[in-house]
Amino acid sequence: MKTNYSIIPKLLKENPAFAWRIVRAFAMQFKSLVVDRVFHPGQTNELALIYFRLTPLCNLRCVMCGQRGDKGVLKGSFAAEESKKIVPLEDYKRLVDQLKPKKPIVYLWGGEPFLYPDLFPLIDYMMEAGLTVSVNTNGTYLEKYAKEIVERRWHALFVSLDGFEETNDRIRGDGSYRKVIAGFEAINREKERQGATLPYMGIVTTVNNLNYKDLHALAEATRSFKLAWHFYNLGTYTNDEIVDRQRQFMRRELDTEIACLPAYATGYNEGIDGQELYDVLTRIHAMDVDYPIVTVPALKPDKIDIYYKQLDVPVRTRCTVPWSQANIDYDGSVFFCADYNDYPLGNIREKSFFEIFNGERAARFRKALKNTPEGMFPGCVRCYQNMLCGKRVQGF
Ligand SMILES: C[S@@+](CC[C@H](N)C(=O)[O-])C[C@H]1O[C@@H](n2cnc3c(N)ncnc32)[C@H](O)[C@@H]1O
Ligand code: SF4
Ligand code: SF4
Repeated sequence: MKTNYSIIPKLLKENPAFAWRIVRAFAMQFKSLVVDRVFHPGQTNELALIYFRLTPLCNLRCVMCGQRGDKGVLKGSFAAEESKKIVPLEDYKRLVDQLKPKKPIVYLWGGEPFLYPDLFPLIDYMMEAGLTVSVNTNGTYLEKYAKEIVERRWHALFVSLDGFEETNDRIRGDGSYRKVIAGFEAINREKERQGATLPYMGIVTTVNNLNYKDLHALAEATRSFKLAWHFYNLGTYTNDEIVDRQRQFMRRELDTEIACLPAYATGYNEGIDGQELYDVLTRIHAMDVDYPIVTVPALKPDKIDIYYKQLDVPVRTRCTVPWSQANIDYDGSVFFCADYNDYPLGNIREKSFFEIFNGERAARFRKALKNTPEGMFPGCVRCYQNMLCGKRVQGF
């Protein structure tokens, strides 16, 4: 299994300037771990990566999604109310002006980011400010907007696809597979027509018990799409016991009630055979393709079973996220944790980002995290951000 660092060599060869931006973000993150977290745990000077969850709206209902899936928090009238809260373009522009000197990598997501009404002018503004802009999308709008996306030379597209047609559509909804494939074709056509190498376009697959046996078929079906990477995200899963521990901890240490973690107790991890998944991934690795195949987190073969069956056993520790990352939610609230947005640090519509990022609430969260024996809270065990950037537990 390869880690996220494996995207660097190919990028270095093809586009050193772009690769440098990514290396710089990794370096900032490392520095935040060994300097800021150790010597002044409440504060940080680094901002490597900033997420913008632009909207709670989505046109799909993927079964395992913590927002819109079976157990998702965005349901019915609550979802309708939330969707009215989105941040106007002008407020985001003010934020971009503040971020500009730090040049973080921007990761736009949602919901479905193409449903944020001013997505194109916002990205134009970010790119004019010199930020590196990546978009995580369900891919269903790529065909419609391919020309505009390529003309603007967005840096990267992370497109979600969870299986070959039947499997994908069972998870992500009827017709979604074909729409994404049409999107890949349209982006590649436009890149050729415009003589463009950007955006780099790759797939993100979230592994679950509905798709893990079928991943090779997806890899074969998409190998000709000039992908820049294929990420296999082993998935965020939890159970009621962990939720309970997290609830107690957050109440006690941070006076916070949690709502998001329970949405990941979906059961879509159940029955995954670690050895079988490893064999599938090994077959995929053996394919003759020129793009990196990355597993998040990369694990030793005999540990995959633990990942899915013993959800309270950490495979990564020492979360560094609060020292180098933040998520701006669709209503302007700032959080460290992108998926578990329960502890707001402040709102960019009321205060400047860096006042919030180094404010009192942020310091309290960082110190609470650092004071835990493993550098994470009970509910952090399968958090995606920690799977990407946490410290590998010995033996895993
Ligand atoms: C919540 S979506 C938002 C962006 C966009 N709507 C999409 O699907 O790409 C972000 C990513 O989270 C993944 N995801 C959904 N449910 C997940 C889960 N339970 N564990 C880990 N990742 C999950 C999606 O497949 C997608 O790649
Ligand atoms: S497309 Fe993305 S946000 Fe929408 S339901 Fe699926 S995973 Fe969730
Ligand atoms: S590991 Fe925990 S603290 Fe770190 S980003 Fe994830 S949920 Fe937040």
